[in-house]
Amino acid sequence: ERQEARPYNRQRLLVVANRLPVSAVRRGEDSWSLEISAGGLVSALLGVKEFEARWIGWAGVNVPDEVGQKALTKALAEKRCIPVFLDEEIVHQYYNGYCNNILWPLFHYLGLPQEDRLATTRSFQSQFAAYKKANQMFADVVNEHYEEGDVVWCHDYHLMFLPKCLKEYNSKMKVGWFLHTPFPSSEIHRTLPSRSELLRSVLAADLVGFHTYDYARHFVSACTRILGLEGTPEGVEDQGRLTRVAAFPIGIDSERFIRALEVTEVIQHMKELKERFAGRKVMLGVDRLDMIKGIPQKILAFEKFLEENASWRDKVVLLQIAVPTRTDVPEYQKLTSQVHEIVGRINGRFGTLTAVPIHHLDRSLDFHALCALYAVTDVALVTSLRDGMNLVSYEFVACQEAKKGVLILSEFAGAAQSLGAGAILVNPWNITEVAASIGQALNMTAEEREKRHRHNFHHVKTHTAQEWAETFVSELNDTVIEAQLRISK
Ligand code: G6P
Repeated sequence: ERQEARPYNRQRLLVVANRLPVSAVRRGEDSWSLEISAGGLVSALLGVKEFEARWIGWAGVNVPDEVGQKALTKALAEKRCIPVFLDEEIVHQYYNGYCNNILWPLFHYLGLPQEDRLATTRSFQSQFAAYKKANQMFADVVNEHYEEGDVVWCHDYHLMFLPKCLKEYNSKMKVGWFLHTPFPSSEIHRTLPSRSELLRSVLAADLVGFHTYDYARHFVSACTRILGLEGTPEGVEDQGRLTRVAAFPIGIDSERFIRALEVTEVIQHMKELKERFAGRKVMLGVDRLDMIKGIPQKILAFEKFLEENASWRDKVVLLQIAVPTRTDVPEYQKLTSQVHEIVGRINGRFGTLTAVPIHHLDRSLDFHALCALYAVTDVALVTSLRDGMNLVSYEFVACQEAKKGVLILSEFAGAAQSLGAGAILVNPWNITEVAASIGQALNMTAEEREKRHRHNFHHVKTHTAQEWAETFVSELNDTVIEAQLRISK
């Protein structure tokens, strides 16, 4: 029997992600202050207006005591958030270890950790056990709050084991899983010791989504080659049960950025920035300080440009906002020192008594400061070595209606498939090519900038976060019905 889909505005959506969209600071034994945080995933899901969404995830803090946990749960409930409490050891093994030291680099083609192989193998096993345990803890919380008719949407590489845990609780639960990173070639996924178990648990979902068609294709190939299952144009079939696999490219809430440019504070910021950098072209990088973002490569390309174009040396400045992230993982600590060293060297080499070529900030900016920066930028540099989508490129474009600046974009970011026609696409590993595109961008005619911007702006405005989420959720509803029909045939 075909079940009637409930109208979206009455349907509950349980969004399950490793991180809740809040930062929580403890103010006393039973008091917390909460702030809604910004970021790729967060801004995307904030765009969903038509669902009654609940968020389930980790609050990013260790709360060992019951009083604290109760108080935080209560405070979060006002923001429609439900916490999963993870202790320090689990965070270390699951989040720092398996998620950020194994899956994250692997999915971005950086391979598995290479240090002491034996030690890695031993810790690999305990980290994978912790990963499964953490996923089970998320499943417990979802199960506790689940009501019939809810749609459950699991997010990202942290929760690949979750669809299976949820279906074990309730096979009728509508479960979707979306990956925000690339899914690598099956040849890369094959190297992962837990390759089959992870694929099988993801396949327990009804709908599996990726940013691009290529990632979806890699996933289906991994299932056919590693698990020996049948890949069809619709997804992956296992003994008559179909898991739908498709591409759902994410977007941003572009209106939020466009509107922000009219706020007095932003206009004031823009004025200050323009005065500060008068007579110089502004180039901008905004990245989490992560090895996948290609920050050293970007800065080296900028150095090469300065080296070869002496006349530009006092006429251009690179502002690099490097938001600290995952600071407990040694690889990230190493990267921070490496970037500082390169920036120091280049500023020493090309700086003058009055100006330096690179302003490097190890911090995040608030939303208004960020919008102002995007708006005054002449050239944005997104040089990710691999990136699921990269929404910084979208945010930049949304803020450039007046200026029509140029976007230099890595061909290895998912966004290259949507903004490729308007951006200058580069291979971030090719420093010579990136340096040349900096020159091309700085010298581009107003006419060409306008033409390229038009293309990208139209795309960013018409492919929003809200549309992304609505498409995924409505397809998730239909997929369950299809799967049931298929089985009853
Ligand atoms: C990426 C991931 C997200 C993650 C974010 C920030 O965009 O896909 O799932 O939340 O990075 O990283 P963090 O480890 O601080 O949550």
